[in-house]
Amino acid sequence: MTPDEFRRAGHELVEWIASYRERLAAGSLPVQSRLKPGELVARLPAAAPEQAHAFDEIMRDLDDLIMPGITHWQHPRFFGYFPSGASLASVLGDMMSTGLGVIGLNWQASPALTELEQVMCDWLRDLLGLPSSFSGVIQDTASVATFLALVSARERATNYGASRAGLQDGGAPLVVYTSAQAHSSVEKAALLAGFGRQFVRSLPLDADFRMLVPALEAAIAADRAAGFRPCVVVATSGTTATTAMDPIDAIAAIARRESLWLHVDAAMGGTAMLLPECRQHWAGVEGADSVVVNPHKWMTVAFDCTLYLVRDPEHLVRVMSTNPSYLQTPLDAQVRNYRDWGIALGRRFRALKIWVTLREQGVAAIRARLRRDLANAQWLAAQVDGTRPWRRIAPVTLQTVCVRHEPPGLSADALDGHTRRWAQAINDSGAAYLTPAVVDGRWIVRVSIGIESTQARHVAELWQSMCAAAAASAASV
Ligand SMILES: Cc1ncc(COP(=O)(O)O)c(C=O)c1O
Repeated sequence: MTPDEFRRAGHELVEWIASYRERLAAGSLPVQSRLKPGELVARLPAAAPEQAHAFDEIMRDLDDLIMPGITHWQHPRFFGYFPSGASLASVLGDMMSTGLGVIGLNWQASPALTELEQVMCDWLRDLLGLPSSFSGVIQDTASVATFLALVSARERATNYGASRAGLQDGGAPLVVYTSAQAHSSVEKAALLAGFGRQFVRSLPLDADFRMLVPALEAAIAADRAAGFRPCVVVATSGTTATTAMDPIDAIAAIARRESLWLHVDAAMGGTAMLLPECRQHWAGVEGADSVVVNPHKWMTVAFDCTLYLVRDPEHLVRVMSTNPSYLQTPLDAQVRNYRDWGIALGRRFRALKIWVTLREQGVAAIRARLRRDLANAQWLAAQVDGTRPWRRIAPVTLQTVCVRHEPPGLSADALDGHTRRWAQAINDSGAAYLTPAVVDGRWIVRVSIGIESTQARHVAELWQSMCAAAAASAASV
């Protein structure tokens, strides 16, 4: 493709994306894809084309082949999983990054990539109200950031012994503490970092699904008594199922007293901390050793974009640093080489999409949108609270409302069946998209509000769909 062909095709694609977003905002598309498993595979050729295809033909196939397989995450009635906004500003920022086609192997390979990343991490840190002693790096996902935290914790606890001798260092087992509502990435990180499933303590919860602090203390004491080495506690600000906020203050005090690494997984809840009125939810966070926040969730920076903030980058650098001769430069002592702050050597210019989003939207508008979503969640919670047999399952800390429709006389299993049936009916209808989840051993439905185009009226329409689908399911029992 020549630059001139790119100019024509690129304009066409930008026009296509703009029209797609307009169609989404109009609400006419079904939210959930209706593709059957294997359908796209069957429609695609088995091998790559030998001869070139015209871009027009590729665009036709985008419409005919790919679009039927899209569940529309940017749809105003997408209430599934978590809001993963992709503001059009951040789409342009991503395009800048890909268009430049640079890779940050070291400072010299892409000086602006490194320095914009440094400044964006500082901007976000300050916007979240974290102390300036934290430094940041952009990772692809929170899962990777949590893995880095656990590796750093392991290394600090072993005085860098594990990075020398690996699994052969022969010390007493190191233990990870987290809550039963922690994201699955915590357990995965613990396994990959060599702690072993047996040494991950999944602690019980209080009535609001937050880590039970006395249980943490008891587990640490029991592990010390057994000769194990308590190493790291992972607290969550905004759990995946209910956006519960673990009591960071109390957990940080224990971590300090017991010399544990404290990692705060604020992948979802972190964005709320742009609002000063939400910061009480993570009071004590300045006592953390590391914090992860996903701008690619509620902040509308297009996936993937994770902010990993650490109190002392030395723990990252001492483990992650590699220094092959071809990457050494005379400037190394004066600059930050982010390859030493993570796993990948080659790094995308992700900071551009943060920069463009923050500048094009302005922080005031982002804060206003977050407040709108919090108010929409409170409105839905009030409908649920005031309408029998609906029941709210958890406090509405942020923008997620967890509900169950509980017609009298159903056994627990029948209630589970009913819950999954009415949620599935809404998803299959295309009217909205919700995710059921298990909380306290039973199915509930999460309504996660926060797509950029979701207005109060979309939440009101969802509520009508919920009432209709639950009534139809209850009538069929
Ligand atoms: C609390 C929490 N932590 C971690 C993650 C994982 O995020 P990522 O997809 O960036 O790895 C999620 C995603 O839903 C989450 O809700």
